[in-house]
Amino acid sequence: MLVIASANGAVGIEAAMQVLRDGGSALDAVEAGIRPVESNPADHTVGYSGLPNLLGVVEVDASIMDGRTLQAGAVGAVQNCEHAISLARKVMEELPHVLLVGSGAERFAKEMGFPETDLLTADAKAIWAEIFDTKVPSGCQERMAYVESIRRYAKLAADPERPNETVNFIARDARGNLATGVSTSGWSWKYPGRLGDSPVIGAGNYADNRYGAAACTGRGEMAMRLCTAHSVVTYLKLGMTLEAAGRAATAELGYLVDPYFGRVSLIAMDARGNHAGFSNGPDATYVYMTDDMRIYAEAPRIHVAAGGAGRRL
Ligand code: GLY
Repeated sequence: MLVIASANGAVGIEAAMQVLRDGGSALDAVEAGIRPVESNPADHTVGYSGLPNLLGVVEVDASIMDGRTLQAGAVGAVQNCEHAISLARKVMEELPHVLLVGSGAERFAKEMGFPETDLLTADAKAIWAEIFDTKVPSGCQERMAYVESIRRYAKLAADPERPNETVNFIARDARGNLATGVSTSGWSWKYPGRLGDSPVIGAGNYADNRYGAAACTGRGEMAMRLCTAHSVVTYLKLGMTLEAAGRAATAELGYLVDPYFGRVSLIAMDARGNHAGFSNGPDATYVYMTDDMRIYAEAPRIHVAAGGAGRRL
C-alpha cells in the first residue's frame, strides 16, 4: 500500500495511509489525504484560505478519479465549499455527470448537505488587498471602473510570484487499485470563472489501474493544452518505464509557445506501485509513504529542463 502527494500534501498523507491500513480503498485514501490540506489555513493555494480571484472571491476546483472503473468526478469555480474533493466525489457517485461548475456545483453542494464556509481568511484577503492597492488606481471612479473591466489585470495571475499550486494525491490500496485526487484554489488573481487543469480529467488528473496514474500542479493552462496527466498514462500503456513516461510528458511542455510559460510539476505511479515526481523547474519535491513506514518521506522530483527557459512569444 502506498500514498504519494505533492509536498503540501504532507499534512494529510498520514491520514490517507491510515485509511489504507484500516482496509479503506484508494479513493477513500486520496479524499482523506486532501481534506486536511483543504482546511490548512497556512496553505494559500487550496481550499480554506486559498487566494482569491480578481474580484477578491475564492473559487475552488477539484477532481477525483477511480483507476479501477475509470469513473471520475470534478467541480470547478465553486464558492463557499471547503471540501471540494468530497464534492467532486459526490458528483462521481450521485450524478450521471463528470464535471459541475459555478452555481450548479454550489446548488449540488447544498443538496448534498455540505456546509457553506467563507473560504476567504483575513490573511488571504490581506495578500489580495496589498496587490489591489498597489496595482489599481485609488480614486473612487477608477476603483468602480476596475470592477467593470478587470481583464487587463488578469495578467497579474501569471506573475511568477503569484501562487498557482495545487494539492495532488495518488494512492494504491491493498487490492492494487489506484486513485488520484486534486484540489486547488487555482491561480490567485485569475479571471472569475477560470478553470485550470485541476478539474479537467486528463489534464491535471488521470488514473487507470492497468497502467498507472498521474497528477499535475503549476500552470494549469499548460497541462490543459497537452493533457499532461493522461500523456503519462498513455506512455505507460505504450510500454515506457515510469521514469521515461514522466520525462517525456514533462519535456513536451517545452513545445508550448506561451508568454506565460511557467512551472508544471507532476507526481506519477505505475500499476506496480513504482513512483516518481517530475518538474520542468529545479528543486521540487514530493512526499510518499508506504504501509511499513511510520512517518512519510520527502523525495526530489526529477528536473526535466523542458525547452530551457520555455518558448515564449
Ligand atoms: N494547477 C492549478 C491551476 O492551474 O489552477
